[in-house]
Amino acid sequence: MRNGVPKETAPGERRVALEPETSKKLKQAGYEIAVERGAGETAGYPDDAYREVGVALEADPAGLLAGADILLKVGPPSIDGGRDEVSWLRPGAIYLGSLMPFRHLRTVRALAERQVTAFATDAIPRTTRAQSMDTLSSMANISGYKGVLLAATQLNKYFPMFMTAAGMVPPAKVFVIGAGVAGLQAIATAKRLGANVTATDVRPEVKEQIESVGGKYVGIELAESASAGGGYAKELSDEDKARQREILAAQIAQSDVVVTTALIGGVFAPKLVTAAMVGAMRPGAVIVDLGADGGGNCEVSRPGETVTVGGVTVLAPLNVPSSMPLHASLLFSRNLTAFLQAFTKDGAFQLDLNDDIQQGALITHAGEVRHARAREALAKEAT
Ligand SMILES: NC(=O)c1ccc[n+]([C@@H]2O[C@H](COP(=O)([O-])OP(=O)(O)OC[C@H]3O[C@@H](n4cnc5c(N)ncnc54)[C@H](O)[C@@H]3O)[C@@H](O)[C@H]2O)c1
Repeated sequence: MRNGVPKETAPGERRVALEPETSKKLKQAGYEIAVERGAGETAGYPDDAYREVGVALEADPAGLLAGADILLKVGPPSIDGGRDEVSWLRPGAIYLGSLMPFRHLRTVRALAERQVTAFATDAIPRTTRAQSMDTLSSMANISGYKGVLLAATQLNKYFPMFMTAAGMVPPAKVFVIGAGVAGLQAIATAKRLGANVTATDVRPEVKEQIESVGGKYVGIELAESASAGGGYAKELSDEDKARQREILAAQIAQSDVVVTTALIGGVFAPKLVTAAMVGAMRPGAVIVDLGADGGGNCEVSRPGETVTVGGVTVLAPLNVPSSMPLHASLLFSRNLTAFLQAFTKDGAFQLDLNDDIQQGALITHAGEVRHARAREALAKEAT
């Protein structure tokens, strides 16, 4: 079977779905691999690095995709008129990548119509067996790390406490909202830089995880559980939102840096930091809104831009993993390879829709949208 790896064409995307070292593993498993010329360039993997491990390089993306049994991509396939990757695929071909179906419903429909079997790595169930395939986790880890570095370079203070000949400077106070994968990495990174770190989440089970990476937990007594299973959170009731607002307001007002990472169901960002909360921060403080891809956790943030409100700098970077493309691509490649290897027999991918991982990740197959929630979202959009 042949894996096709095109260049990512979404604006600002610098990652590639498969880097050379991981390509070797797939070749050993029996796959042929073809990569579009220049596909790894922006991630730090030149064409020669692929050639050296026996990967074929192709100049024509349409030919590459037409010849692929499996399309490996970071983002959803393009459906633009000028580069309609879905129409280039053969019916029956497999797509494997971070499709984010709820953010790309038109692409989901196009994939179904083209009879593509699409697996979204972001919909993989959160089980121990699937952990090595989970692109959401590996990319969120990068966002949490990089988000804190962005805050540290923007802040007009040191992160660590320093005893200097000119006297002592106190550590910066960092508050992390949402302590999932990105949040825990943000806490750990801020802690390594010497800051005083506090964190909150609506799932009380994260208390110990926050403490284990050096953060202080600030909890919220909720009337209703916010856990939706699999580590995902539900939207809070109005009553619980009001309770949370009080705690956030008090904590944010005393913070030098706020890093937000909260998502509902791994997709949409609840608005948690209000304009009034930003107004209560001291001038020079910094907010890094890592929920920007899901619409933003902060009322005043503008996804993809940096704004200053009352002296507070609010960063809302989009696609943070793409800003560290070498390691992001390496980890992404390993996730895709782990998925393929788990289901490869005699050099061929075995479709097994009774397998819980394939079942969870399957979005389209045989002309239908098979993912129940994506189907519901499409039906809702049509009304
Ligand atoms: N294979 C696995 O077993 C596996 C894989 C990935 C994640 N997980 C688990 O799932 C957890 C969360 O994963 P994620 O980071 O992808 O989640 P996510 O990106 O969906 O959400 C990020 C965090 O935001 C929190 N959040 C949502 N609404 C909030 C609000 N109003 N206020 C404060 N916080 C809010 C969530 O509880 C979550 O911790 C992880 O910590 C991990 O324990 C398990």
